[in-house]
Amino acid sequence: MFFVATPEPATAKVTLDPAFTVGPVRRRTFGAFVEHLGRCVYTGIFEPDHPDADEDGFRRDVLGLTRELGVSTVRYPGGNFVSGYRWEDGVGPKDQRPVRLDLAWHSTDPNLVGVDEFAAWSAKAGVEPMMAVNLGTRGIQEAMDLLEYCNIDGGTELSDQRRANGAPDGYGIRMWCLGNEMDGPWQIGHKNALEYGRLAADTARGMRMIDPDLELVACGSSGPTMDTFGEWERVVLSETYELVDLISAHQYFEDFGDLQEHLAAGHKMDAFIKNIVSHIDHVKSVKKSTKQVNISFDEWNVWHMSRAESKAPSGKDWPVAPVLLEDTYTVADAVVVGDLLVTLLKNTDRVHSASLAQLVNVIAPIMTEPGGRAWKQTTFHPFALTSRHAAGTVLQLAVESPLVSGGTTENVAALSAVATFDAEKGEAVVFAVNRSATDALTLDAAVAGLGNVRVLEALTYANKDPYWQASADDSTSVEPAENVTVKADGGRLTAELPAVSWSMIRLAVGS
Ligand code: AHR
Repeated sequence: MFFVATPEPATAKVTLDPAFTVGPVRRRTFGAFVEHLGRCVYTGIFEPDHPDADEDGFRRDVLGLTRELGVSTVRYPGGNFVSGYRWEDGVGPKDQRPVRLDLAWHSTDPNLVGVDEFAAWSAKAGVEPMMAVNLGTRGIQEAMDLLEYCNIDGGTELSDQRRANGAPDGYGIRMWCLGNEMDGPWQIGHKNALEYGRLAADTARGMRMIDPDLELVACGSSGPTMDTFGEWERVVLSETYELVDLISAHQYFEDFGDLQEHLAAGHKMDAFIKNIVSHIDHVKSVKKSTKQVNISFDEWNVWHMSRAESKAPSGKDWPVAPVLLEDTYTVADAVVVGDLLVTLLKNTDRVHSASLAQLVNVIAPIMTEPGGRAWKQTTFHPFALTSRHAAGTVLQLAVESPLVSGGTTENVAALSAVATFDAEKGEAVVFAVNRSATDALTLDAAVAGLGNVRVLEALTYANKDPYWQASADDSTSVEPAENVTVKADGGRLTAELPAVSWSMIRLAVGS
């Protein structure tokens, strides 16, 4: 790790001007994901025996934390789970629903939560549901049936079935994922790009015949390191370009022991987004299309995949809601999550939707004890604050930053920053990450373009020990704290950003 030769502490210069914009702040950037996986659904959002459960069996504490997190859309029901899922199993009287094997996670699903419960939970949580259809073991007809069940108000067999099940009005679900990670050999019914592209196109055609205004998401490759990545996007979009609105991106980051490399996650995500955009635009150009397909970054997070808590059960053990993927996050992981949000916002012109994977217990910002407490992980804080305060327009910043290197990543900007500007509210917000594992950084921002500014709030999330983790017993001793070094004067905003830190600076903007 090194800094370029600049006086200590190194300074990153930023110019911020409302005349230079990237695009709108999209509420859908702040989506999350609920999969039938581990304890995300059962003992996560749903636990009828919990003392704080509501009349539908939903945990009120989790509903409250979901609202506090500021989640917009929630993708459901998977994930790998969806590729073996029969949605009909999860509707109707609960005592008649079948108990099924969940092959994706070697578990047993009692089907006590299905699409109707998820729609009811979404309404209570104040989130927009985003559905995925099974294109692994199933196909066009089942996808159209689920759409009819969900979105047609009544007068047909399936919509009347929903009404009989207690939901008189259609759910009006707009966003639909056409399968999940279909290039992954771990996916039930995985396909090659042409097979999937044709199936996705035919499914999209059928679904649009029921409801032309849907926003459809084709599966992109499962990740940037897949051999299929790139060519998959080209072939799938060649088949689907005029039929879909978005193509999915999935990317997870792991701390393999080199903190400096871990802190470069945002840089890697940015490169991945640019790469996907080039594949989308190649197909657009070849097709001479005037339509713009964009990205649904519908799985992203830190995931310590190689650790024991990520291993699924095996053999004859098919538990209901086992402990799976229950990563505990560090302050450094939270800084990475904050940086990934900065990166998604910086790319708001092409990333039109995103989902933090996942919401509760499974690689999640919210954790629960069965029958007990719910608590916030470190990653909760940057997500909640960014969701609450990013508003209006994303500004294009000019950034001159010292560089850091570590592990396999070289010459990565130490400062990762984005600003949003809400003209109506008269507020600009700077989100800034110091990616250096060892050194503080001075932020020196030219903000004269905003007119007179006054600091409304300046918070920094950092800790002497970047590996500190929250727990059910102590989730509050390290929280975002006031950064007293932040000053705005004479068209300049300055701040000291500690090593491994995420900051949010809110400015009142006058004329
Ligand atoms: O989010 C956990 C899993 O990661 C999802 O089920 C799958 O889509 C991805 O591989």
